[in-house]
Amino acid sequence: MAGFTDPVYRELCKCQGADVLVSEFVLADSLLTEAPEVWETIDFSQSQRPMGIQIFGSGPDIMGRAALRIVERLQPDFIDLNFGCPSHKVTCRDAGSSLLKDPSKLQAIAGHVAQTLRKEGVPVTGKIRIGWDDQSVVALEVAQRLQDAGIQAVAIHGRTKEQGYRGDANWDVIAEVADQVSIPVIGNGNIVNAAQVQAVLKGTAIQGIMIGRAALGYPWIFREIKAALAGQPVPAAPTLEERWQVIRDYAQLLLARPHRDRKAGDIRWMRPKLIKLTKEMKDCRRVRGELQKVLTLNDLNELACRHLAHYDLPIPQDWSTAMAS
Ligand SMILES: Cc1cc2nc3c(=O)[nH]c(=O)nc-3n(C[C@H](O)[C@H](O)[C@H](O)COP(=O)(O)O)c2cc1C
Repeated sequence: MAGFTDPVYRELCKCQGADVLVSEFVLADSLLTEAPEVWETIDFSQSQRPMGIQIFGSGPDIMGRAALRIVERLQPDFIDLNFGCPSHKVTCRDAGSSLLKDPSKLQAIAGHVAQTLRKEGVPVTGKIRIGWDDQSVVALEVAQRLQDAGIQAVAIHGRTKEQGYRGDANWDVIAEVADQVSIPVIGNGNIVNAAQVQAVLKGTAIQGIMIGRAALGYPWIFREIKAALAGQPVPAAPTLEERWQVIRDYAQLLLARPHRDRKAGDIRWMRPKLIKLTKEMKDCRRVRGELQKVLTLNDLNELACRHLAHYDLPIPQDWSTAMAS
């Protein structure tokens, strides 16, 4: 999810049970440059496979060249094409969800990328919304065109572009598409717990579920949903100690990644990311305020220790030594 997930966060989701990961989207044109920050955004480790890299753009040629470049450089398991982003910055380029208004152009882009990657043996998937607005719900037509274009799976966000992220996702439309096309359909929109997954899958041909915002700050959602789907008891929410362990590890791993133009050891830039991980945490408002002040990994460690001590919880032994920055 652009601006929020990163390679370390994706790893966290993987550890908590996410089956398939997709990078945040990147503009195809930017992949034809050497800009390191672009390549770092879509970086992944072998343990994160199966891993898809998502691109967006408005022309078949540039999308094909960008996809090929990624494949040559990173060998992801698949390339995913974004035809769903509603942001003005994307639609004004005639990319993302704006292509839902021009299904034949969308098909041409998808077909060209699929053909380009066929000889590389790398599948191409697509991500769409159900349509531009209520008057133009085109998910079925677009999914059929994607299938004809050689796309191997389609993820459908059950909202229109006009809806943005508001209102209900229309799972009936997703189910209808899943019924009508032969490629796998992955449903997406407003899933926040296992019961919902079971409800939306029931009696449909939908083959997978994509979790968006519910996974931001709460990677444990994957283990909860997977347990429920396997008919096992849903694991308890993470303990305070587990939550701090994850926040500490996340910060440490983020800091270990390349970060140009940032002062060594300074973690101020990652505060918004750390704050996200306090979702549903005890005293989350107070902790968020404290996180706004951390400068270094050691400040973070001290905050974690203070919070655990406040509840008379034991502080893990290795936390008492300074955190490596
Ligand atoms: C901040 C933010 C960034 C997103 N970035 C992407 C993206 O890069 N690629 C993508 O396919 N969808 C992106 N999405 C859309 C989500 O993947 C998902 O389709 C949408 O949030 C609906 O699912 P949800 O109701 O589970 O959140 C983004 C959504 C948000 C809120």
